[in-house]
Amino acid sequence: MNDDVLIDDSERDKRNAHGNRGFSGFDAEVIDRQSMADLEAVGSDKWTRFPGCIGAFIAEMDFGLAPCVQQAVTDATARGCLGYIPDPWKHRVAESCARWQRERYGWDVDPACIRPVPDILEALEVFLREIVGAGNSIVVPTPAYMPFLSVPRLYNIDVIEVPMLRVNEPRHCINGWMFDFDGLERAFASGCRALMLCNPHNPIGKVLTRDELLRISALAERYDVRIFNDEIHAPFTYDDHEHVPFAALNETTARQAFTATSASKSFNIAGTKCAQVILTNPDDLDMWMDRAEWSEHQTATIGAIATTAAYEHGGAWFDDMRAYLDESVAYVNEQMRTRLQRVGYVPPQGTYIAWLDFSPLGIENPADYFYKNAHVALTDGRECGECGAGCVRMNFAMPHPMLRECFDRMVEVLEADGLM
Ligand SMILES: Cc1ncc(COP(=O)(O)O)c(C=O)c1O
Repeated sequence: MNDDVLIDDSERDKRNAHGNRGFSGFDAEVIDRQSMADLEAVGSDKWTRFPGCIGAFIAEMDFGLAPCVQQAVTDATARGCLGYIPDPWKHRVAESCARWQRERYGWDVDPACIRPVPDILEALEVFLREIVGAGNSIVVPTPAYMPFLSVPRLYNIDVIEVPMLRVNEPRHCINGWMFDFDGLERAFASGCRALMLCNPHNPIGKVLTRDELLRISALAERYDVRIFNDEIHAPFTYDDHEHVPFAALNETTARQAFTATSASKSFNIAGTKCAQVILTNPDDLDMWMDRAEWSEHQTATIGAIATTAAYEHGGAWFDDMRAYLDESVAYVNEQMRTRLQRVGYVPPQGTYIAWLDFSPLGIENPADYFYKNAHVALTDGRECGECGAGCVRMNFAMPHPMLRECFDRMVEVLEADGLM
């Protein structure tokens, strides 16, 4: 097997020496040494839900915590700062989130329109309840992050699935995902109220271009459609793909967008419960202050502290972690190209999630197949929409040796069953 894309420690030392900057606290050697038993001992959902399996389903990373986050949480508990979230911490979250947006994506957003919320899904629930309304419908491009399909139904809101188009035109060097703009328009014209936008897109890893965002905005404008804009994976973009914040494009997108973001994916702190809504439509901000007070109140103080530390001091750790993920993506791409070439796959442009289509191999339920035969726990593609039959969602944010083992296990069972 060709492991060239996963570099070893001596090569990493050489590169670090040339990098000539301080240690960020992200230690690839320590990460690489983690065994399954070590990861299970951490006690995460990812490594305890399916004992004995490689956890490649839920979107958590196995890279520990940024030291600044760890220190901030330790200091806060030492001070006993675990009460309800106070205003000063809400302001710190807003200020630090605004700074992250400015420094990372060039978006000069006013901190006054950034409010805390426990998580993205709570923000979505407020959006569905207050803006979409029961009895209406929402368009979800699929495959989609699973709760985008299930949560609206809890609010008696219909979900219109519009599958993304898989374009493969080698002659024009196009191999990727495209929006079905005609499908979107048909759904908008049928009277739906809102579109679920996820950028970068979990689970297909697509990073939307400025042109695509503008085209979506123009369509939405024509049919008066609001946009729930989930940018939680924004910091994870690869190669020359850049994250463009939708609401930052112009006054129209600012009015259309109901943006939700969080440091929870980038710093693996989802359990600390502090995401942010960025309300660039003044009516949304009024609504929020009037009717989402309880959502804010449920935000965890420890999460505000962890989030602020991450945004203010975690940049270098994040960048080193992202460089490690660069190698992971390269490895996944190489494995798909050389060992799983019959499996449908488009290299992700962002996120740490890959979408693998096993339908060409005739495996009806690949998540179940790999769980039972290879002891690899993946997400069943059908949870991401009707178009996900025969597919799995794979989280590759794991130690490199584990990622190698993950592919070895999958390839071995396929070969043993004569499927590769
Ligand atoms: C696209 C996307 N949105 C939202 C979430 C969940 O975020 P939260 O835990 O803040 O609700 C995830 C988690 O995997 C995600 O991938």
